[in-house]
Amino acid sequence: MLCSLRVLIKKLMVITLFFALLVSNTSTCDEDNAPIINYKTRFLPEVGKNGMVVGPEKLAAEVGLSILKGGGNAIDAAVATGFALAVTYPRAGNLAGGGFMLIHHEKDKRQTLIDYRETAPLDSRPDMFLDESGKIDRSRTYFSHLAAGVPGTVAGLIMAHARYGSLPLKAVIEPAIKLAEEGFPVSYALNYEINARAKRLAENSEAASLFLTAEKLAPPIGSIFKQSDLANTLIRIAENGAAGFYRGLTAQLITQEMQTAGGIIDSEDLMRYEAVERSPLRQTFKGYEIVSTPPPSSGGIHIIQMLNILEQLDLQKMRLNSAKYIHYLAEAMKHAYADRSKYLGDSDFIQVPVTELISKEYARTVGQQISPHRASPSETILPGVVQSHESPDTTHFTVADSLGNVVTNTYTLNFSFGSHIAVPGTGLLLNNEMADFAARPGVANAYGLIESQANRISPGKRPLSSMSPTIVMQNGSAILATGSPGGSIIITTVLQVILNSLVFDMNIASAAAQPRIHHQWLPDTLRVEPGIGPDTIDLLKQMGHNVTTSRRTLGRTQSIALKNGWLYGATDTRRAGGHVASY
Ligand code: GLY
Repeated sequence: MLCSLRVLIKKLMVITLFFALLVSNTSTCDEDNAPIINYKTRFLPEVGKNGMVVGPEKLAAEVGLSILKGGGNAIDAAVATGFALAVTYPRAGNLAGGGFMLIHHEKDKRQTLIDYRETAPLDSRPDMFLDESGKIDRSRTYFSHLAAGVPGTVAGLIMAHARYGSLPLKAVIEPAIKLAEEGFPVSYALNYEINARAKRLAENSEAASLFLTAEKLAPPIGSIFKQSDLANTLIRIAENGAAGFYRGLTAQLITQEMQTAGGIIDSEDLMRYEAVERSPLRQTFKGYEIVSTPPPSSGGIHIIQMLNILEQLDLQKMRLNSAKYIHYLAEAMKHAYADRSKYLGDSDFIQVPVTELISKEYARTVGQQISPHRASPSETILPGVVQSHESPDTTHFTVADSLGNVVTNTYTLNFSFGSHIAVPGTGLLLNNEMADFAARPGVANAYGLIESQANRISPGKRPLSSMSPTIVMQNGSAILATGSPGGSIIITTVLQVILNSLVFDMNIASAAAQPRIHHQWLPDTLRVEPGIGPDTIDLLKQMGHNVTTSRRTLGRTQSIALKNGWLYGATDTRRAGGHVASY
């Protein structure tokens, strides 16, 4: 009896000890796995554990999150967000535009890129935007039916979903249909964005009927904004996939509008459109791997090229945004954009020397040409020998799921509200992406970018882009995903977020919030955001830089950093309405 009591007491002690150890282990584990935020800054990211969507508009980000919560993966959530933004963020979210989606698959440690850039219609011609005197007709290039490239967005989103999604297509499009059918309250940001373009939207009766009141103004803040034609267009996609857009009623309505109003996109253009899955570009930077967007975007090439040049310097010692640091950044930017002007175009049509441009050897040659003390006038920088009006449009969103998959997507109509022309009966705004071709090589495009024959219009060709969804990898996993709108400014914006994160060890919110600079070779102007100090500007001027403080903010990133099993999200506060949705 006594013996069995002793055995019982012994057993109880063992069990108590076991539980004590378990509890103490659990609390140590929790502390080890707590989110790590660098609090030395005024800017803090949102934190999530199981899923996150960072985008330019709240309702669409919440749609993506609801898909993640419902068991969808990051690709399902990205596709759902893309369709939802076409409803809630009409200035750049779209069905009749194009873009690039970069995906990291954690399970097999693989990255892939879906290129759904628009293509030039089969009837397009190199001189189609020149007037009789050979000058570029800007109105035709930007605001006519001819300005539209064959839309790629639906093909791209459907391809991403079909290859990598896990939920039924109807489930990922349903939230967008609901938002279009039932409507949603107009936010301050939407009201502002429509009013900013109201005059031009009023010139197209269909666009006016979709977006403006009888007084030719944006619908009031808080009023319910419904889009029944767009809902029906989305229903046809949900039921028939890409054929629900590129064939059938939607295709008929697009081609009918083109025939009536002097456009050239026809049913053959629509039927032949295909998104393309491509290998992203990759290069190392200070022990990290940078994975970014290949041609027909110039983004990945030039981000990598500039990182290669800057890697040779002790940037940390220079300190962020010192005159010396900005000088080197600006010089690297000039060289990159000079090369862009000569070599870049659609690599399915022309030879782009990608390997050379992103090589470390080439960067060393360029680096040797940069003076530590003097700005090189742009006219003295020639594109290397390799063995407009500014439009802050386009949009970006980034998604991460609990499995470590990441999607970072930039898509666009080109200008805010594209060509400002809507297709009757569809709720679709047409893009004006043909303006991204070199209408006349050597003459600046809408972003002030000079381009060569390499970006000349040709049937079926994709116009050169600057869209730059980018992922930074460490030991095979994604640690940062980002991207931005901004035309030519996209590339330098993404560059600076990467540098702030990797070189200056900033949390992602802080990395996004720092004042940025931009130089694109021509014009020879160094644009700085307010926040770069007057003394720094004076020093830069003494070095020979033509500095101007930008009236507009530079870029608008939507980023996620991944660390230690936690997700850190930051929507750039440079514009209203962005949102981090997470759980
Ligand atoms: N439409 C802007 C870009 O593709 O870069």
